[in-house]
Amino acid sequence: MNLPQHVRLVEVGPRDGLQNEARPIAVADKVQLVDDLAAAGLRHIEVGSFVSPKWVPQMAGSAEVFAGIHPRAGVTYSALTPNLRGLEAAIEAGVREVAVFAAASESFSQRNINCSISDSLERFVPVMQLAAQQGIRVRGYVSCVLGCPYEGDIAPTAVANVSKALLALGCYEISLGDTIGVGTATATRRLLDVVGRVVPREQLAGHFHDTYGQALTNIYASLLEGVAVFDSSVAGLGGCPYAKGATGNVASEDVVYLLNGLGIETGIELRALAEAGQRICTLLGRVNGSRVATALLANSC
Ligand code: HMG
Ligand code: MG
Repeated sequence: MNLPQHVRLVEVGPRDGLQNEARPIAVADKVQLVDDLAAAGLRHIEVGSFVSPKWVPQMAGSAEVFAGIHPRAGVTYSALTPNLRGLEAAIEAGVREVAVFAAASESFSQRNINCSISDSLERFVPVMQLAAQQGIRVRGYVSCVLGCPYEGDIAPTAVANVSKALLALGCYEISLGDTIGVGTATATRRLLDVVGRVVPREQLAGHFHDTYGQALTNIYASLLEGVAVFDSSVAGLGGCPYAKGATGNVASEDVVYLLNGLGIETGIELRALAEAGQRICTLLGRVNGSRVATALLANSC
């Protein structure tokens, strides 16, 4: 079995996780979460979004969160930027890595960023130019890679086309988002086979929401396909404001447990991560979405 020796986790809890929470969360609590995650060993944390506050009110305070965190050496703190205005705000906040986000489904693109797929790619051109001038790295997301809440099945070739376009624009990595968590292991392997022909696997990441409970299986399937970067959310926080019923990303603790069992290095301290997740869940009054954290913390008293 040829599995990667090292996996990089991109922790998206503070962004993908919290963006869907309806009630306000204090900046200090978001800062605490980001600092806790860095202390647990996460080396890439998506802190927030510079998007329209009318579209995603919870992310409105992202600049303040960036100002409040205690940056650790070797940790990347990134943010979503859908357009030039978002990138300018991110630069103002001192952000050194951003992500643009497109979709493989026209309907989702309209609902999420209010434009067609091709318009979104055009909108990213000046974003990429300014980012390059400023030496800011840009990651690219593709949503709905294994299904769309409005269109159902999505052809792997549609995902490949958008991924290829984002790579050509200058994204250093393409994160493939199963936004509504409908994918299965077979569909994941088929997708990676098709997308892997236009984007090198070292530049692909998996972003699995766990709505149908398939995320860990899909990560394992992706590992078998040579993918070594995964997005996850502490305590399985989240959902998507534009994908009704979608649950959070796969829980980071569960992914770390899987990788530990496979002997794959992550550099993350599982108990500290579980404690960080429980802390934010208690604050939000949410049930912890990580099976591993729930088991670990129950056994500790
Ligand atoms: P629009 O309405 O078409 O844009 O929205 P607009 O240019 O006409 O601007 C409308 C208003 O937004 C204006 O304000 C602008 O100034 C303001 P008004 O004049 O009405 O007061 N505005 C902004 N404000 C702050 N920051 C900005 C910004 N841009 C415009 N950057 C837009 C287009 C893209 C802005 C909007 O649709 C938007 O913000 N969408 C964000 C949606 C979002 O964040 N979704 C969740 C993240 S994606 C995701 O979760 C998927 C992912 O996890 C992968 C997966 O799971 O699949 C990544
Ligand atoms: Mg997502």
